[in-house]
Amino acid sequence: MLFPVTYRVNARGHMEVGGCDLADLAHEHGTPLYIYDEDTVRQRAAEFVAAMGDAGEVLYSAKAFASPAFLRIVAEEGMGLDVVSAGELHIAAAAGFPAERTYFLGNNKSAEELELAYRAGCTIVIDGAYEFELLRRAVPPGSRARVEIRVSPGVKPDTHDFISTGQLDSKFGFSIENGQARAAVEQALAHDRLELVGIHSHIGSQIFDLRGHVAAMEVMLDLLGGLKRDLDYQPQCRGAGGGLGIAYTRADDPPTPRDFVETIRGALAAGTAERGLKAPRLVVEPGRSIAGPAGVTVYAAGSIKDIPGVRRYVAVDGGMGDNIRPKLYGARYEVLKVADPEAPATETVTIAGKYCESTDILITDAVVPPIRSGDLLCVPATGAYCLAMASNYNGMPRPEVLMVKDGRARVIRRRETLDDLLLTEVF
Ligand SMILES: Cc1ncc(COP(=O)(O)O)c(C=O)c1O
Repeated sequence: MLFPVTYRVNARGHMEVGGCDLADLAHEHGTPLYIYDEDTVRQRAAEFVAAMGDAGEVLYSAKAFASPAFLRIVAEEGMGLDVVSAGELHIAAAAGFPAERTYFLGNNKSAEELELAYRAGCTIVIDGAYEFELLRRAVPPGSRARVEIRVSPGVKPDTHDFISTGQLDSKFGFSIENGQARAAVEQALAHDRLELVGIHSHIGSQIFDLRGHVAAMEVMLDLLGGLKRDLDYQPQCRGAGGGLGIAYTRADDPPTPRDFVETIRGALAAGTAERGLKAPRLVVEPGRSIAGPAGVTVYAAGSIKDIPGVRRYVAVDGGMGDNIRPKLYGARYEVLKVADPEAPATETVTIAGKYCESTDILITDAVVPPIRSGDLLCVPATGAYCLAMASNYNGMPRPEVLMVKDGRARVIRRRETLDDLLLTEVF
């Protein structure tokens, strides 16, 4: 699924999402423009929640894209939330997101963040030994914070090294391999201000091959087997992380949310039965697979530069400041002409951004129909980890964001102005 569920080519031959003509939206709201399709967000969220049933909980991972309007929608679909900073918790609070359905993760939480998370009533996922000390200060005597321990299961999934997190050499979690995970569990159980409710792992992101999750579950259940045998401890929850991949090009064929949840549920049920363990509640935390396919970006083509015998550069009015993924992880995208998305692709061009970096390239060697300056171009599958990582590099205001549904578009984040660039400056 490369496009939002409501995508179609309308009677004018234009791209349409959520019943809105993308050319009309671009003319009215300007470019670059990020557009989220509400039906896609709801459908993806609902598929995860339905597949989970009463076996556990599905959290939306706010790092993929967090805005109050977006978070309200995932909350309405029955999801919990995973946040990694006081900032994400603040955005969630502005959305009225229930704190008791919020988990606070992160590899270097500050004392202030831990105190905020505890006071708000979040479950805190401990990622390093330093947090035990900080939590002793954050939690008053006689009280206990609900915590999980994040474990690194030593499994390498089929994804880019930069988004693999479950291997021994990782800044995330306590390793099983070197005994630190077991020691952390013992420390949490002995801690007078903590209630250890779960054991968590997250092996990486943009994963297509679900066997990585099955392998991680096996390793984690071996750990749980040892905890039951030696410490008579069985956790209430097993956090299995996020990581379901999405299609960025038509060639990509990722598993569905249902496949993802059912595979992990199946591995948990079979693995606990085999080991004589009580099945803990399963918690998963997808981000990309909910926000990613729901979002598209519309740019306007500007300067077109031919370097004979080398390449043609088509520059758009955004780039690495709103989508750093091609340069951060070598991510691949497709581009379509908003006014004629099905035009035959006859040329190979490189879609460049407008930032003063030669690495500011959105798509190298895109095969496209002829593009002229002024054409509107759409890049699909940009809902996750694009705006979330957006910057004001080169003094560029960040784009406007729309939520579309049933032919109506509402602004959920206004375009930044030049004056916004000065808001935090002290003269
Ligand atoms: C701990 C944790 N959970 C969940 C996620 C969400 O992953 P994804 O957006 O790939 O589903 C991430 C992403 O990096 C993560 O680090």
